[in-house]
Amino acid sequence: MEGRMPRFAPFLILLALSGFVLLIRNITSMEKLNCQTMSAFYQIQSSIHSAFKTPEALLSVELNHTYCAHLGQEPTAEEAREESDLLNSISWPGPLVPGLPLRLSSDPAQSYFVIRGPAEQQEGGQLLVDIYMLNFMGQPKKHGGDFLVARLHSPDLGAGVVGQVHDHRNGSYTVLFPLLWAGVVQVDLTMVHPSEAVVVLKRLREEQPDRVFFKSVFRSGFLSETTVCNLCLPHKEQPLCNFTDLQTGEPWYCYKPKMLGCDTRINHSKGGYKKNLLTKTEAQFFQSGVNIKVPIHSSGMDNVTVLPAEKGETKMKSNKFTPAGYYYHHSWRPLSGTVMRQFNDSSAITQCLKGKIIYMFGDSTVRQWFEYLNAFVPELKEVNLHSPKNVGPYMAVDSGHSILLSYRCHGPPIRFTSVSSPEMHYVANELDRIRGGSDTVVLVGIWSHFSTFPVEVYIRRLRHIRRAVVRLLDREPATLVVIRTANLQKLDPESSLFNSDWFSQQQDVVLRAMFRGVNVQMLDAWEMTLAHHHPHLLHPPPTIIKNMVDLILSHICPVREKREAPSKRLKHDP
Ligand SMILES: *[C@@H]1O[C@H](CO)[C@@H](O)[C@H](O)[C@H]1NC(C)=O
Ligand SMILES: *[C@@H]1O[C@H](CO)[C@@H](O)[C@H](O)[C@H]1NC(C)=O
Ligand SMILES: *[C@@H]1O[C@H](CO)[C@@H](O)[C@H](O)[C@H]1NC(C)=O
Ligand SMILES: *[C@@H]1O[C@H](CO)[C@@H](O)[C@H](O)[C@H]1NC(C)=O
Ligand SMILES: *[C@@H]1O[C@H](CO)[C@@H](O)[C@H](O)[C@H]1NC(C)=O
Ligand SMILES: *[C@@H]1O[C@H](CO)[C@@H](O)[C@H](O)[C@H]1NC(C)=O
Ligand SMILES: *[C@@H]1O[C@H](CO)[C@@H](O)[C@H](O)[C@H]1NC(C)=O
Repeated sequence: MEGRMPRFAPFLILLALSGFVLLIRNITSMEKLNCQTMSAFYQIQSSIHSAFKTPEALLSVELNHTYCAHLGQEPTAEEAREESDLLNSISWPGPLVPGLPLRLSSDPAQSYFVIRGPAEQQEGGQLLVDIYMLNFMGQPKKHGGDFLVARLHSPDLGAGVVGQVHDHRNGSYTVLFPLLWAGVVQVDLTMVHPSEAVVVLKRLREEQPDRVFFKSVFRSGFLSETTVCNLCLPHKEQPLCNFTDLQTGEPWYCYKPKMLGCDTRINHSKGGYKKNLLTKTEAQFFQSGVNIKVPIHSSGMDNVTVLPAEKGETKMKSNKFTPAGYYYHHSWRPLSGTVMRQFNDSSAITQCLKGKIIYMFGDSTVRQWFEYLNAFVPELKEVNLHSPKNVGPYMAVDSGHSILLSYRCHGPPIRFTSVSSPEMHYVANELDRIRGGSDTVVLVGIWSHFSTFPVEVYIRRLRHIRRAVVRLLDREPATLVVIRTANLQKLDPESSLFNSDWFSQQQDVVLRAMFRGVNVQMLDAWEMTLAHHHPHLLHPPPTIIKNMVDLILSHICPVREKREAPSKRLKHDP
């Protein structure tokens, strides 16, 4: 030990000095140094990737296209079966031969739709619309897989509902719309991506799960290093820090800093987005105004007149598509049986939330609810936790009415600017720390930051959250748990590769299926953004947020509460 000291001392002094000099000279330049270190590490990581990728024989077991998915806790046999069922349920049809030229790919401008049936139809019925996809040469497409979304709306009535798209896998599609109100209804169809682009997105999801990468700062004294982090990192060449969560088994790794120990990690943040992910041919399938979110027009009429239903005929038949709800007079009307209440003034909200503890967990789309309530209800006072802007955690209280509102982001992967290491918590672990009960409301929304990973990663995360939700509901069945689904967003050629609605749609299907049969309320952000006239945004506008919050409050304080409450209470009385 003593013999080592003289060898290390000058080195350490030098390091400490250079750190000190950098720190006092200019803090920004130190950040730059960190960035350089980061990109150097990143290049090494990429080169490891390509080294393994080129000759097929060199593909190690850990480095195949699912290498990210199978780290962490093993699913039970039942969960493994569920996973394979889920993956089957989201399998996507498409061209069998990838690499079709642009001219043979779907052209929304030449494609068209035809409304089936007469120009006047009956409320309570179902409108059928056929879509015929053509390529850029004007020829009918012969295969399916285009990602299409559909909405039926009446602008004058502030009404809108989503349609269900059926892919016949031969270039034609049929959309089902429920006819829920009387008046003139217009059909609005959009091609989000041609099938040729979906093939590319699929490839990226499997082969480039690190196309958004992350970094962490490690610091001790004057020393500071930044390294690349992710759910999984090739570790053959470089030592790793293993930050796998011991409770859930959720994996997380960073490259080990050269000088510092793994326990000196201080924060986590988005590292960046990889560039040059597409070949020239592939890039042609991602052109704004050409084949990303382009409307498909009608070959004839694009609207029908819905006549008011005769009495007793409004009930929807079971073989029809039933959406989660629809807008009418700009207000969301759920079809699940929940009666929607409007909370137009803050005192009504205060009244509803009296004595409640509301926990919000997830990404920034859940944070929007915190922000809305915090801004709208003056009695709610935000507690200054000195949290970074847009990151949290956040807390607001109304001590007069015993209301506690809190928000915390989900664990990595999360693309926030900078989350300090002690604040990185997994939702499942947070749920395990909640007592629960009839005065507890738990809101969870987790989707957007998983879009770049294989779906198995999302399934695993939801599995852990679901287990914790089930434990919570076992402890305290009266706890209200609301799960938010994904929503649509604005897409351009670049954002499509990271955040496409196609990724979100796949996650959305998985999320719904995984929470089916669990006593939670689903908040259908997918339909609430698709049915609305506002252009799609990652962070939906205030008018949609108000509808979402009103829906949550309608679950917390249902209109039937007064009649049902006494019998409910009895059960809990000793
Ligand atoms: C620090 O460096 C940046 C960029 O090199 C420069 O713009 C800034 O003025 C410097 N600040 C100080 C306090 O020297
Ligand atoms: C990829 O790796 C996982 C985990 O090691 C393994 O279960 C799976 O069979 C592999 N897949 C292929 C296609 O090699
Ligand atoms: C495509 O499939 C649908 C449903 O099976 C069928 O009605 C339609 O005629 C087919 N279209 C073509 C062009 O084959
Ligand atoms: C990381 O730690 C977890 C939990 O201790 C362990 O299961 C996993 O094998 C470790 N990963 C590696 C690559 O060593
Ligand atoms: C409905 O379609 C008809 C025929 O295409 C058109 O003349 C009319 O303006 C449309 N009505 C509305 C409200 O868009
Ligand atoms: C809330 O405001 C909307 C829009 O201004 C209005 O249509 C609705 O009747 C109001 N509801 C209540 C309960 O005040
Ligand atoms: C991480 O922590 C360091 C040191 O406190 C700070 O300078 C930096 O802004 C934080 N965030 C990121 C993204 O590096």
